[in-house]
Amino acid sequence: MENVKHEKWSSGFIFLLAAVGSAVGLGNIWRFPYVVAENGGGAFVLLYLGIVILLGIPLLMTELSIGRMTGKAPINAFDQMVKENDVKAKPLWTALGWSYMLVPLGILCFYFVVAGWTLNYVTGMVMGDFNGITAEGAQESFGAMLGNWKTLIFWMTITLLITIGIVSQGIKEGLEKAVKILMPALFVIMVALVIYSSVTGEFLESVKFMFTPDFSKITGKTIMMAAGQAFFSLSLGSAAMMMYGAYLTKDISIPKMACGVALADTSVAILAGFMIFPIVFAHGMANASGPGLVFEVLPVIFTDMPMGQLFGVLFFLLLAFAAVTSTISLLEPMVALLEEKGYKRLPSAFIVGGGVWLIGVICALSLNVLQDVRLLGGVEALKDKNIMDIVEYFAANVFVPLNGLFVAIFIGWMVKRSTMIDEFNMGDNIVFKAWKFLVCYIVPIVMIAVFYDAAIGF
Ligand code: TRP
Repeated sequence: MENVKHEKWSSGFIFLLAAVGSAVGLGNIWRFPYVVAENGGGAFVLLYLGIVILLGIPLLMTELSIGRMTGKAPINAFDQMVKENDVKAKPLWTALGWSYMLVPLGILCFYFVVAGWTLNYVTGMVMGDFNGITAEGAQESFGAMLGNWKTLIFWMTITLLITIGIVSQGIKEGLEKAVKILMPALFVIMVALVIYSSVTGEFLESVKFMFTPDFSKITGKTIMMAAGQAFFSLSLGSAAMMMYGAYLTKDISIPKMACGVALADTSVAILAGFMIFPIVFAHGMANASGPGLVFEVLPVIFTDMPMGQLFGVLFFLLLAFAAVTSTISLLEPMVALLEEKGYKRLPSAFIVGGGVWLIGVICALSLNVLQDVRLLGGVEALKDKNIMDIVEYFAANVFVPLNGLFVAIFIGWMVKRSTMIDEFNMGDNIVFKAWKFLVCYIVPIVMIAVFYDAAIGF
């Protein structure tokens, strides 16, 4: 059944909601602030912005257009483009297609574990479990949650079931309906929280922290972290954007959409900084960072702020909504591929989801029962990482940038110039030339430098 036609988005705006929903997630609100804090603030933010503009937007345009030109999931998409453009080294590009398909599943395996934490915190906040909690208390309670595999598995299973439920309904009945509710809700909550936080917290100090660059803090590793974070945040290097592109109709401008997604995603990441740092600084807890930043620090702060409980509930609800609009795009591509192979959506969603659940459970157990297991204990840079960290590291920091590198080479060097000019529908103008230059030279050179540096680190 090679010729299965997928449903299309109802409009460009709905596509934007869905694509921004995929991009905006735990990566923006949970990961970005602590990665910024760990990598020295302003310099990292500047680097991040540079990477989004010079590498992120061109790659977004690339992935969306590969999806739309073929209307298929990555493996079939690459196969078709290899044929149409007479590209050599077919097995390499088939492998790239597989890598594109598997990365989102790898991400999903640890992502829905964390998404489960957010739901657990929503209920905790609603029940008032954190009222009057101290810093030690909050750390203990985060630790206790991680130590309790039953709680973890319960909440991650709920998250995954919601995801499967939405994806199993298809594009118009499932994904579109979900993002039409979740994205406006996310926007309203976010604006309320930023205002709340900058009025009650240390706004100016946060501006200084996020935008005063200390370039001595930039090393090869920082660049790799920034690239990894930017690609992760834009949902690049994974099948998600290609798949969402496959549902786009021809009348919509891909360059415009790519800029819209990048702008919205980056704004949310920066706003997340302005939501979190002002209250963190106001409470002198600037040293707390790492994955626990929002889970250990914010509950303490919310308890002694006016209407803290309400805003606490809203904050974790925001995280949960942002997470679910991302998990659906992580599950969707494999389900769509199975559809192309002739399988029905509903059973596919459950079967793929079931596989992800199993690995996700191992990730969750690596936070408690299996916490001392070091799969790659022999590798210096990875010797402290548990199973979940390793899954995250390889999916987000290795394979995502690697896919970005190869897709740039593919589209820049293998695919005909005229094919892409047609696809972007804007002629051989300056925007096209800039895009072409970036994907042909800048993306590969930066990515190879990043990998070279990372490899030396081992
Ligand atoms: N962009 C998502 C976030 O910031 C995470 C993510 C990475 C993702 N790759 C993806 C989501 C692919 C969907 C598809 O949280």
